[in-house]
Amino acid sequence: MAERKTLTTASGIPVGDNQNSITAGPRGPVLLEDLHLLEKLAHFNRERIPERIVHAKGAGAYGTLTVTKDISAHTKAKLFSEVGKKTELFLRFSTVGGEKGSADAARDPRGFAVKFYTEEGNWDLVGNNTPVFFIRDPLKFPDLIHTQKRNPQTNLPDATAVWDFFSLSPESMHQVTILYSDRGTPRTYRHMNGYGSHTYSLINPAGERTWVKFHVKTNQGIENFTDEEAVKVSGEDPDSATRDLFDAIAKGEFPTWRFCVQLMTEEQANAFPFNPFDLTKVWPHADFPLIEVGTLELNRNPANYFAEVEQAAFSPANLVPGIGPSPDKMLQARLFAYPDAHRYRLGANHQQLPVNAAKATDVNAYQRDGFMTFGDNGGGSPNYEPNSFGGPVEDPSAKLSPLALEGAAAQYDHREGNDDYTQAGDLFRIMSDEQKSHLIGNIVGSMRPVSDEIKYRQIRHFHGADPDYGKGVAEGLGLDIAKVLATE
Ligand code: NDP
Ligand code: HEM
Repeated sequence: MAERKTLTTASGIPVGDNQNSITAGPRGPVLLEDLHLLEKLAHFNRERIPERIVHAKGAGAYGTLTVTKDISAHTKAKLFSEVGKKTELFLRFSTVGGEKGSADAARDPRGFAVKFYTEEGNWDLVGNNTPVFFIRDPLKFPDLIHTQKRNPQTNLPDATAVWDFFSLSPESMHQVTILYSDRGTPRTYRHMNGYGSHTYSLINPAGERTWVKFHVKTNQGIENFTDEEAVKVSGEDPDSATRDLFDAIAKGEFPTWRFCVQLMTEEQANAFPFNPFDLTKVWPHADFPLIEVGTLELNRNPANYFAEVEQAAFSPANLVPGIGPSPDKMLQARLFAYPDAHRYRLGANHQQLPVNAAKATDVNAYQRDGFMTFGDNGGGSPNYEPNSFGGPVEDPSAKLSPLALEGAAAQYDHREGNDDYTQAGDLFRIMSDEQKSHLIGNIVGSMRPVSDEIKYRQIRHFHGADPDYGKGVAEGLGLDIAKVLATE
């Protein structure tokens, strides 16, 4: 057996006895001078950090993106500079609403967050397994999430809050239709797609902008649980997807995805029949076909869950030159929300943690100090800019390309004149009869406890998306669709 190392305190001091506390006599009380005991208990009390306010339960792995198609005419981002280029990445999957110990198989969107360690710093694509979202204005995000969490009095999940909010927020119809379809309960993290969901910009070397959506399509095939299977698995193995991912990678069965983009020119965006930055809508494939540009593979498990997965910090604000934001209001708010959450959850120096640190380039910032600074903290180099002492300087080629904006600053009603039904209905109409029946059954099961007032209001939305959709839910709830529509 290899020689074992000496146990030390956190300060590296050898520990003489890790079995018996120091006491006054064999039966006596412990002494304050037992510093090893004090350190152990005090550190133990501080083992937990705040869990993520959303997406608390997750699993992650390392891998690579390999470019298979040249899109350098659209973006100057170096990770897409040539076919064959490989970039290291870390990906964290998650559920959204449940706490850190909740079941992986729960009906919920799944998070699909990727950190690409590029040579121009880290690019984070913080997406979901759905191409759209429940809301289009970030002012509604805390309200939405409150309905997905526990009731403030009973501490129980609250179907009334869920359907009250959805029925009063018709922009949720598209995402609700995905969530209650079989895709709301993916069999594993390997058997689902990821979507950047928002529109982003690509900027080419000439500074020209193309709008882009990112799609990450599974090569394992889409596989879902039925509602009954998901309920059973949640009880039998609440960590089913975490286990599946870890075991597959440990066995060398590396999951892969096709990394694709949809591209839209600024002219096409101006002529588009609806707002191309509306997160509740997709760009139809027929008009904006998927272009496959790379292969994403996961091939290495983390060595330590807390250090690498719990402390991972993904931010939509981590954008590299050649990839920029869009006017999507939701994205704009997320640019603020994530680094703010990281400063609260992990501290001001969270980017220094190994999983979050840039790996393929040096960090040359003027930020200094703060809790938990490690490394040389800039040593003796200047901590201000401009300076005459050779400190790092800006690179104008990294500037965002200008974007023309128009309109008066005001609070515009985002629900006015918006078509919330067509794309939800399109999705319903491409489903097989079996998929439609599962969708309707899952909705009916969830809506049963809520009041008739809320049921009626929500069924009218389903009817607006497709009359068969509304009728199916009404019948499942034992209601007469004609009466529901007449009470409008
Ligand atoms: P297409 O017929 O070209 O594409 C349909 C898409 O729907 C495919 O990407 C398919 O994914 C996906 N899909 C199939 N069943 C489900 C389901 N139960 N839940 C979620 N997605 C599903 O259609 P369009 O582009 O014209 O869009 C029609 C509808 O398809 C949209 O309203 C939207 O709801 C949905 N959709 C569209 C996407 C887009 O970016 N255009 C992306 C995802 C969904 P797959 O090929 O992986 O099976
Ligand atoms: C996590 C806010 C919308 C995907 C989080 C976190 C916050 C947050 C505060 C926790 C971050 C942390 O502690 O590390 C918001 C706000 C939104 C929004 C304010 C809208 C205004 C979205 C959308 C998507 C998304 C639209 C997907 C397209 C994720 C994912 C995570 C996450 C995947 C987990 C990242 C990880 O694995 O660490 N969100 N979110 N969110 N969000 Fe959002």
